[in-house]
Amino acid sequence: MVGAGISTPSGIPDFRSPGSGLYSNLEQYDLPYPEAIFELQFFFHNPKPFFALAKELYPGNYRPNLAHYFLRLLHDKGLLLRLYTQNIDGLERAGIPASKLVEAHGTFASATCTVCRRSFPGEEFRVDVMADRVPRCPICTGIIKPDIIFFGEQLPQRFFLYMADFPMADLLIIIGTSLEVEPFASLSEASRRSVPRVLINRELVGPFAWSPRHNDVAQLGDIIGGVEMLVKALGWTEEIEDLVQRETNKDVL
Ligand code: OAD
Repeated sequence: MVGAGISTPSGIPDFRSPGSGLYSNLEQYDLPYPEAIFELQFFFHNPKPFFALAKELYPGNYRPNLAHYFLRLLHDKGLLLRLYTQNIDGLERAGIPASKLVEAHGTFASATCTVCRRSFPGEEFRVDVMADRVPRCPICTGIIKPDIIFFGEQLPQRFFLYMADFPMADLLIIIGTSLEVEPFASLSEASRRSVPRVLINRELVGPFAWSPRHNDVAQLGDIIGGVEMLVKALGWTEEIEDLVQRETNKDVL
């Protein structure tokens, strides 16, 4: 399970870190309160703040970091049952196939007209977002909203894979999330009690803070440092360095 913390080393702010988090830096959007940026009622009143954020977060602007490559390595080794992410930056897609990924809070890869519910590929409205235009449906002129899950909206069907996945997992790794947003946060309680849960995060969060299990493990501090330590303990340091090198070369070519 991952959250915005795995993308801060890529330069994307998280939401709740005091000072640097997105929710403390939205003054320029003139929102009644920070979370309004992900609320439908406010979106229909004024969609511009959300699209300004969408422009910033649009896939293509940022690069995966060591935490993403660690997840990719788990997959390459056949150890990843599923990756549940709350992130909407799409950085997990670098090398992890869609079948292994649950993008619980949606994606910019597709969008839906808020009036006629027609679906569009994300690419189709990219030009509008980049030009600071609110994308409109070519059929009914309704506002087109990227398929990001707003507060109160239903999570994607794939989220419910957790009901089969979590009882099967024999290790639960949680990285870079405050575990404050439901229903995602409660997944941290869905693994079997005999199964260790490993948290890599700046501070203790969710059940690690208020109802820890005897076999919980927390590596507190910077995520990159925490991942490096785990990778070293696994003896994968060289392998991950090779992977990062290969992927970086791909970008340059
Ligand atoms: P938060 O911003 O709530 O939490 C990020 C967590 O990562 C915090 O505990 C930080 O301390 C930690 N963190 C950040 N950078 C770190 C670093 N470099 N090293 C160590 N720890 C670090 O983000 P999420 O839990 O992902 O909804 O937020 C959940 C949801 O709230 C988001 O998906 C978003 C928002 O409303 C939508 O986008 C729809």
